[in-house]
Amino acid sequence: MDLKSLKEEISKRINTDDLQKINEIKTEYLGKKGSITELSKKMKELSNEEKKEFGKKLNELKKAANDMFENKRKEIEQALLNKKLASEKIDITLPSRKTVRGSKHPLSRVQEELEDLFVSLGYDVYEGPEIESDENCFQRLNLPSGHPARDSQDTFYLENEEDKYLLRTQTSTAQVHAMLENENKEPMRIVCPGKTYRRDDDATHSHQFMQFEGLVIGEDISLANLKATLELFSKKLLGEKTEIRFRPSYFPFTEPSVEVDVTCFKCHGKGCNLCKESGWIEVLGAGIVHPNVLRMNGYDPEKYTGFAFGPGLDRFAMFKYGITDIRYLYGNDIRFLKQFDRKDDINEIKS
Ligand code: PHE
Repeated sequence: MDLKSLKEEISKRINTDDLQKINEIKTEYLGKKGSITELSKKMKELSNEEKKEFGKKLNELKKAANDMFENKRKEIEQALLNKKLASEKIDITLPSRKTVRGSKHPLSRVQEELEDLFVSLGYDVYEGPEIESDENCFQRLNLPSGHPARDSQDTFYLENEEDKYLLRTQTSTAQVHAMLENENKEPMRIVCPGKTYRRDDDATHSHQFMQFEGLVIGEDISLANLKATLELFSKKLLGEKTEIRFRPSYFPFTEPSVEVDVTCFKCHGKGCNLCKESGWIEVLGAGIVHPNVLRMNGYDPEKYTGFAFGPGLDRFAMFKYGITDIRYLYGNDIRFLKQFDRKDDINEIKS
């Protein structure tokens, strides 16, 4: 059979939409024992002159046959794909199924608002671990074992660790990490938001709660710097009319220590049920970092001083949103959480 009629034969035979059949036919012609392959064996019987001519034609035929099979294969595959696409067509004009949209948790809202404020003041956000050693949670914060102030911070200890590891009772422990990690013992400004744990459970105390520690270390840092910072913080969070006052207090890791009150944002100091008629609401503990704490964590107290403060985020969220029981914040009840899906909530309290 001459080469030309072979080509015609192929083009007739591939007139099918069966992909497997195409492959079979291809093998018949171009496979190891295919008829086109066999033809090249004939070459050796030809003269040099004829070889040249025949070889050229044979190569052309091979290429043409390959192209025919390849084009046919593509054609079949495309047709199959088109068929599949047509059968799986999606009507995008159909209304979608209703999904339940979540909302930001009130604690996250308060946390983010405070982070934004402190970042704008040049602070870094630093997060320490929730599982702590006794050393970091207490000892390096000037609370050696047996210290009576540990009583108010009873917590959860991890088993099989000889009572060495515990769930942190305060974000002040993040201070320890930040100071130890600061290789050159340089000045720093950080806020440390996060979960804390204590053995408490009533309407205003939960076994898990959130704190937002602040720490500034530098030269000549004083109580005046602390007051100015907290004043700004209170005004931003609770309204421009807010005033603050310091009351002397005690924390082992600060000296002097203060308890900070803000003017009641509901009655603006006149006295109401929220502030128990006093006009003031206690919001956080703070103070000047104790020299022992600086020293124990590698800072020279002769060179540096610092201040620290530690508001509870739950308390702020409760004030801000009028939440009466802290346990609502941890109950995962979507009906409760949905109430705070508002953008202008802070302004409602401020006005
Ligand atoms: N860590 C203290 C507490 O949990 C609060 C505090 C932080 C006090 C920083 C002073 C300085 O009660």
